[in-house]
Amino acid sequence: MSVTQLWRVDADKPDGEQYGKAARLLKEGGIVAFPTETVYGLGADARNTSAVERIFAAKGRPSDNPLIVHIADIKQLDSLILPYGPLAGKLMKRFWPGPLTIVLPVLPGAVSPRVTAGLDTVAVRMPEHPVARQLIALSGCPVAAPSANRSGRPSPTAAAHVIDDLDGRIDAILDGGAAGVGLESTVIQIKDDDTVTILRPGGVTAEELLQIAANVEYDLENEAAALVQPTAGRAPRSPGMKYAHYAPRGEMALVHGLDAAEVAAYMQREARQAQSRGERTGMLVFAEHANLYENREQVVVLGSLFKLEEAAQSLYAALRSFDDRGVQRIWAETCPETGIGHALMNRLSKAAGHRSVHV
Ligand code: TXA
Ligand code: MG
Repeated sequence: MSVTQLWRVDADKPDGEQYGKAARLLKEGGIVAFPTETVYGLGADARNTSAVERIFAAKGRPSDNPLIVHIADIKQLDSLILPYGPLAGKLMKRFWPGPLTIVLPVLPGAVSPRVTAGLDTVAVRMPEHPVARQLIALSGCPVAAPSANRSGRPSPTAAAHVIDDLDGRIDAILDGGAAGVGLESTVIQIKDDDTVTILRPGGVTAEELLQIAANVEYDLENEAAALVQPTAGRAPRSPGMKYAHYAPRGEMALVHGLDAAEVAAYMQREARQAQSRGERTGMLVFAEHANLYENREQVVVLGSLFKLEEAAQSLYAALRSFDDRGVQRIWAETCPETGIGHALMNRLSKAAGHRSVHV
């Protein structure tokens, strides 16, 4: 254990001395948490194997799960990846800076093999958050950064979440306030025929990708296969997708149903039964249905079904709030899988360990 420095930074004042201190730490092999427009990341110089190993140790992350490399300037690509095709260029132009991660052929030796977990590709993203951009630019490093949570826990959307998970395990935290999107970036790979494969749904939606690419597909078979048999079959293309993720400590289940009143009745019946066994219970619901639930102190409202962006922003904090209250059983409503709703349902489903019922 060591002391973790906490530095508050003002995103509008890029010349604060905290940025200089954090950038120096990165250059010297330290590990620093910082806000991005998706979630907080835990950064290290991607070229420095011992620094990258400290990330895996601090998070308790399986070593076969590669990291995303963050850049602040498109010029950094030359020293990271092999020449890329016109579609990759168009996607970068449209979505960078922003919540899109593109898996590209890595320039051999450009980053530590611990970053790529031995793959011949590297996942690259240029974040939009001014604090992230300033830190990366000042450090002069390609910055490898997974989400700044203990492995398996919900990603952090505020510095307080990073402190909860990693205090004493990392060198510093730049506190730049709440992250934006609230869910991680969309991870894509481009096939030889220019089909864009979504390996992880996220802040950039399939609908948005279709404005640039003619064909967009989800690699869901990959995800499902990896989850059913984590050790068998072909390796998942985005290795992180096979692990239990984003999960609160309590056991969660998704409750699907067309009739919100029936869904609410089911959840409340199940909750009463669990309570009679002495368990603490919680329910995650959308604003439009909140009045269907009697026991309001158990209910966490995720946001409006008509503003799923807001629900995405509050999901991880909501999951953490159940942990803070020692909740052991959680039931969650579902939402339509359109736009950001796809990423939201992906994370909800993973947080629930893919337990779901239909009423
Ligand atoms: O929004 C985000 O992407 C955040 C912020 C901090 O940028 N980062 C993040 O990192 O979510 P992490 O480590 O929690 O998730 C990285 C994902 C994992 O699913 C990993 O398997 C996948 O990206 N990935 C990384 N490198 C890859 C590669 N070469 N090929 C396929 N998937 C890769
Ligand atoms: Mg993560």
